[in-house]
Amino acid sequence: MKIPFGAITITPLAKQLAMEALESGRVSSGQLVRRFEQRFAELVGASEAVAVSSGTDAVVLALACLYERGAQRGDEVILPALSFVATGNAVLQAGFTPVFVDVRRETLNIDPSRIERAITPRTRAILPVHLMGKPADMDAIMAIARRHELAVIEDAAEAHGAKYKGRNVGAIGDLAAFSLYVAHIITSIEGGIVTTNDAELAGVLRSLRSHGRACKCDVCVVNTGSGECRRRFEHGTDIRFVFERVGFSAKMNELEAAVGLGSLEIYDAIVTKRHANLLAMMDVVTSFGPLLQTFREEPHEFLGPHALPVLVGADAPFTRDDLVLHLVSKGVDTRNLFASMPTQCAGFAYLGHRWGEFSEAEYVGDKGFHVGVHQEIEPEHIDYFRDVLATFMKERA
Ligand SMILES: Cc1ncc(COP(=O)(O)O)c(C=O)c1O
Repeated sequence: MKIPFGAITITPLAKQLAMEALESGRVSSGQLVRRFEQRFAELVGASEAVAVSSGTDAVVLALACLYERGAQRGDEVILPALSFVATGNAVLQAGFTPVFVDVRRETLNIDPSRIERAITPRTRAILPVHLMGKPADMDAIMAIARRHELAVIEDAAEAHGAKYKGRNVGAIGDLAAFSLYVAHIITSIEGGIVTTNDAELAGVLRSLRSHGRACKCDVCVVNTGSGECRRRFEHGTDIRFVFERVGFSAKMNELEAAVGLGSLEIYDAIVTKRHANLLAMMDVVTSFGPLLQTFREEPHEFLGPHALPVLVGADAPFTRDDLVLHLVSKGVDTRNLFASMPTQCAGFAYLGHRWGEFSEAEYVGDKGFHVGVHQEIEPEHIDYFRDVLATFMKERA
């Protein structure tokens, strides 16, 4: 038996829309992208959504919005030490200085009790990550942000479907970034999307994804093929070649939006199935405690069922890599549970952090991995997962 890490469902609607786009010749960002944005915004409960070419770009562009509100290049953004490295890369790509804060091992998320001491006069934003679909402690984070007049940008890349105190993750901070990469619950194969309730920032995001152009309309009549643009020569010169800000090349195309629209059609069924798989697989892991540990779903939250995180206990007589090798050799695919960006990812070494400064994140970086909970995992796969773990424990623990 095999348990692959991920599974993608490309629906008949997605195929039909993609084929129509291919046959029409309108394949660059157009009406399908706009339709996808509107549906995604409705789902999250935000008034605006702007689709881009990756989850990383979604974080970068959301951060770049800070320049509209007075931020300067080199200003600081607070983020958890533990995340997929894209979160830290995005801060640098947007031109800011990352200021890392350790996480809580039990939640995998930024430890709010450590945030305030990381704030300086140059701090502009807090960038919490809802890692593995577990909502960050948003009440505490929003309260700190309000006290210090900081923006909050949620990295919700892995948190499709997650709820915090009855609210959808992605509609709590000022802006939120989702990944639509193939391993995620809503996917456009590659892609990302930013949600916000700020119409002005949504316009800025549309400009940012297209080189900083002065074009910010929510529906572009040129791109959607629905007519002539009356604003094009409004100021005497072609508005599409007026560049208002430093921008990026980060548009989503129609074929990606077609897959995304298909993905939205089956969203409820996929979330339900993945959430049930996640809870059942969490029970399996917990039954091997304290040698194996995972997080919990608290009464105030609904975990976005992205994947199942597993931590090897501190006193276990085996390493994470021993267990991962065993699982992979038995057909259960895994991914490591990321790392402490400042101390375990070489790209951030220039910041001069020392091993031990982010001990919780480092622990997860050494001892954590995750496995899929996707829609093609059935009860017999979960039984197999339990058996494979039990065999290992019998031999090694
Ligand atoms: C927490 C987090 N942030 C950002 C990203 C970047 O998304 P993408 O791979 O679509 O660029 C990912 C990717 O999965 C992620 O897990």
